[in-house]
Amino acid sequence: MCGIVAYVGQRQAAEIIIKGLKRLEYRGYDSTGIALLNKGLNVYKKKGKVAELESFLKDKNLNSTIGMGHTRWATHGEPNDENAHPHYSATKKLAIIHNGIIENYGSLKQELIRKGHVFESETDTEVFIHFIEDIKENEKCSLDEAVRLALTKVVGAYAIVVMSLEDPNLLIAARKGSPLVIGVGKDEFFMASDATPIIEYTNEVIYLNDQEIAIINNGKLTVKNTANLPLTPYVQTVDLELEAIEKGGYDHFMIKEIFEQPRSIHDCMRGRLDSSTGRLILGGLREYINKLVNADRIVIVACGTSWHAGLVAEYFFEEFCRIPVEVEYASEFRYRNPVIREGDVVIAISQSGETADTLAAIELAKSKGAIIFGVCNVVGSSIPRATHAGAYTHAGPEIGVASTKAFTAQLTVLNMIALSVAHKKGTITEQKYHEMLTEMENIPAKVETALKLNDQIKTIATEFKDSRNFLYLGRGYNFPVALEGALKLKEISYIHAEGYPAAEMKHGPIALIDAEMPVVFIATKDSSYEKVVSNIQEVKARKGRVISVVTEGDTIIPKMSDYVIEVPATIDSLMPLVSVVPLQLLSYHIAVMRGCNVDQPRNLAKSVTVE
Ligand code: F6R
Repeated sequence: MCGIVAYVGQRQAAEIIIKGLKRLEYRGYDSTGIALLNKGLNVYKKKGKVAELESFLKDKNLNSTIGMGHTRWATHGEPNDENAHPHYSATKKLAIIHNGIIENYGSLKQELIRKGHVFESETDTEVFIHFIEDIKENEKCSLDEAVRLALTKVVGAYAIVVMSLEDPNLLIAARKGSPLVIGVGKDEFFMASDATPIIEYTNEVIYLNDQEIAIINNGKLTVKNTANLPLTPYVQTVDLELEAIEKGGYDHFMIKEIFEQPRSIHDCMRGRLDSSTGRLILGGLREYINKLVNADRIVIVACGTSWHAGLVAEYFFEEFCRIPVEVEYASEFRYRNPVIREGDVVIAISQSGETADTLAAIELAKSKGAIIFGVCNVVGSSIPRATHAGAYTHAGPEIGVASTKAFTAQLTVLNMIALSVAHKKGTITEQKYHEMLTEMENIPAKVETALKLNDQIKTIATEFKDSRNFLYLGRGYNFPVALEGALKLKEISYIHAEGYPAAEMKHGPIALIDAEMPVVFIATKDSSYEKVVSNIQEVKARKGRVISVVTEGDTIIPKMSDYVIEVPATIDSLMPLVSVVPLQLLSYHIAVMRGCNVDQPRNLAKSVTVE
């Protein structure tokens, strides 16, 4: 978590940094700060969002062409002014911003305290910069060498930028486990946690790799690794439009992203799927696709919403490919010495491509000899680089903290992978294969139809905005959708919500049902339809208030429900792409009506780079 931005060049650094921090606020937003070099190395920082820092800076002299800023998601120490970044070294001649965690900071701190260091904050980051300065003084070396030596001694994850009072044209950055992108302009350089603060100025970027150090000194960039070997940086052109990272007239990024889904699903299939020719090409998998075709077992690792996409995938991989699938929380998988056999293939799913637990699960599976596929959204992020092969979801930047369009794009890619494998394996008929491809191409239009329900769903939200609990129930393909609906509601509206397989309700949750309990059934016409009808009756018999998501034209469930949301019919395995849309809209409207910060819900961050 945490977002970092730095600039050195001819322009006013503060403007670029503040704008960049606003773009990165999705990564953490409990405190912010900026460091600028002008008549001294000045650090200004505040608890709260970037807007609060901005007003605090109003009467300050911000005239500087070099600087760096940070937006924080607290790990060590509560969010307050002292713990906000940047942090100074002991002499206040150096400053640092840091995204990540230094795990051995406790022992380093004890050692530094013994040497007389005094700390102003509770953070691991302040220890880091004191440590760098201590090395510089002891070794009598350059700052970049001191940074390098420090990096060989710290344990943990980091993306850092260091500035020095004594070197007014110097920025030093390094990464391990946390992302860092360098923008290369004409006589200017940018650094940031992702490309969004940079693309307005340049689309030439370098994605720094783990254990690499970038030194920008007097307008010249050099890169080396922590073993002190010089490297040639690979400059690439980033394909990102400015409008993709702006709200474009919507009140929130989340609603913009929900409405983008017909396009993002289409983009995800573009150039990969053509039903008229039966073509389904996933270039990033080509070399390894046979590993999946011949897999004895697929293990899916992911967290949160991506884990829900994995659960849906379990159903269709088993149905079409006849390969057993296990879906694991990455955080559990990595700590329990899992059995990985020859013939197992791991699929890691992640929007950000930076989730620490998923990354660690990949490394663990790799160390046991598994082939790993990645399904990620953020191009150039850590997970795609750690996997053997994979497919990007191409949903475009997802800025709202609650994942929406990334989920449907993940389902789209996973469906395409499963169909490719099943076709190659011969576990589905040619007819079924073509039928599926054709229907996939219809999905963007069906999602568009589901989005037309927005006003109706807003009315339903008015009825339920003050509820204290919600239950989401579904069976088969719609069970993971129930989990996703509950997660969306709780994370942005702070209403307690649980998702269950509808049949499990009678094994416990049914005790919760009374006239106060809204129960959302995802009850589209599929192979479990009749069974869900019985579950709805069980809820109605106990006076629960039923909101049903049904297939257009259903005449049975509407009679039993208090509210009905009709979505277009599709093939069972594709239904989650459509049935999740009303649930996203419901949680969005409820959260807005409750006055919650939809795009930046409390305690959350978009990119969870801590375990
Ligand atoms: C929920 C949400 C989170 C993420 C989870 C994994 O709306 O966004 O649950 O899905 O933190 O993140 P990624 O997909 O980036 O690995």
